[in-house]
Amino acid sequence: MSIAPGSDFPPPRGDRPRVLSGIQPTFQLHLGNYLGALRHWASEQHSYDNFFCIVDLHALTVVPDPELVRSSVLELAALYLACGLDPGRSVIFVQSQVPAHAQLGWILECHTPLGWLERMTQFRSKAGTGRERERVSAGVLTYPDLMAADILLYNAEFVPVGDDQRQHVELCRDIAQRVNTLRGEVFRIPEPLIRATGARVMGLDDPTTKMSKSTALVKPAHAILMLDPPDVVRRKISRATTDANPAVVEPVGAGVANLLDIHAAIRGDSRADTVARFTGVSYGGLKQAVTDAINEVLEPVQARYRHWRADEAVLRTVLADGAERAGVVADATLLRAQRAMGLR
Ligand code: TYM
Repeated sequence: MSIAPGSDFPPPRGDRPRVLSGIQPTFQLHLGNYLGALRHWASEQHSYDNFFCIVDLHALTVVPDPELVRSSVLELAALYLACGLDPGRSVIFVQSQVPAHAQLGWILECHTPLGWLERMTQFRSKAGTGRERERVSAGVLTYPDLMAADILLYNAEFVPVGDDQRQHVELCRDIAQRVNTLRGEVFRIPEPLIRATGARVMGLDDPTTKMSKSTALVKPAHAILMLDPPDVVRRKISRATTDANPAVVEPVGAGVANLLDIHAAIRGDSRADTVARFTGVSYGGLKQAVTDAINEVLEPVQARYRHWRADEAVLRTVLADGAERAGVVADATLLRAQRAMGLR
């Protein structure tokens, strides 16, 4: 049973469709996080009723150092603002400051078959097999239930994410549908919102794997970080993997395709137009153009980041206000779910 959006639920503010998304405050963000998620959230704020979360509970699966968790939350809040998220248009909040996330997460765990969780690509790659699996935390397995709670608490219609999160959003839909079938209409069924370009930025050193925060930590040449200065961006792009051709010729290899995709995403061009524009251009020329495009978008973000990061009092006020606004919506959904379970 699925619910027609708008049937039983509080209408989104101003009748705009509601979006919810989040980023883990783990290590530094990279170009993939920006092009796959943050940039769209900011540029499309006027079209949606927006909830953007800093998912610190999720970060506990990978960051054990409490000081790092604390500082990463503030860094991410400053980055959200630096990328153009406007607290007047978007509710910006920290997951752990809204207790309903953990509460609904447990309820959803109780409605999720173990096999669904064990089949998730992310669990399989993080947990490995055999002895490794014995040691990995249970949170790595149940993480998708907490993510589903993040989304379902806000009756989100859309979840703007990069391509790597598609499977998690699909699972969230399956869990919500299962609860609705078993317990009556509790949740709105959300849709992933994944863009045509920039949704899967690949590693610069290995364009067959997606750009990821954890790989960037051990191999700096893997990723452009959002706070990399222009000369570091230039150096990393100049070393990015291409192929044996001297210039862009179709069909292009994975490394060149990645550079073209980055350029297309930043400039807002289609992939086809970008290929046409660079066909015959030397790899040196392509890399120069990609470096310039990246630095043009990152430099102003970095300047605004420094400004916001220096003002912790403002950051804390934004987050406290966000948690209060988020809590009102989340608590109403939690109550609906609890009643459906016979808990209240
Ligand atoms: P996270 O923190 O790994 O990534 C944040 C966002 O960045 C996108 N992304 C990418 N996009 C393009 N190319 C890449 N190489 C790339 N790497 C990451 C991700 O798709 C994501 O949109 N589980 C989520 C966080 C989360 C969440 C949620 C998201 C928790 N609760 C509720 C949406 C809704 C995660 O770990 O994202």
